[in-house]
Amino acid sequence: MNKKDALLRNAMPLLQWDEQKYATGFAHIDEQHRELFDGLNGLTLFLQNSLVTDDDENQGKVIELLYFLGEYAMKHFRDEEEIFAQCGHPMALVNKEAHQAFFEKFLEYNDNLAHAVFSRDILMQLHIFLNLWLVNHIVKIDTGLRECAGKPGMETFLQNSRLQARKQGVFSKFLALFARK
Ligand SMILES: [Fe+2]
Ligand SMILES: [Fe+2]
Repeated sequence: MNKKDALLRNAMPLLQWDEQKYATGFAHIDEQHRELFDGLNGLTLFLQNSLVTDDDENQGKVIELLYFLGEYAMKHFRDEEEIFAQCGHPMALVNKEAHQAFFEKFLEYNDNLAHAVFSRDILMQLHIFLNLWLVNHIVKIDTGLRECAGKPGMETFLQNSRLQARKQGVFSKFLALFARK
């Protein structure tokens, strides 16, 4: 491991779930956030282990992971926006706009990585952006859902939320497939 990579390993801790900091009161939203943590941690491990070099196969894996992350984030945003709207939360629009702004930036990075020259530096910038954005967004905006969980009229949502939360391990399955390739 060279010096740069050793520094990188220390500078990129894996995201860890913290119920007090991140819980929203909706089980499936929390589960999706945990999944997104897993997906980003997968990316962190790629970078930490220096697997992303000029090797075509590894680049392909990263692009695939990013694509999957994007798809998953899109579904998650839709689910979350539905609850914000149903609950009439004052941050509903702010949340939606933040999701849109996130996607524009994410797509810009992805376009560069997938269609221009693949660069580890761009991937690292994207990685930092994703990690910081997600944690900050959950803490500042998504946890606002806590007040919705106790509101009258949200019972069905809460019930469905618990049922949906049982679908787990999406990213660990996805990442396990990589390991076998
Ligand atoms: Fe959100
Ligand atoms: Fe979220």
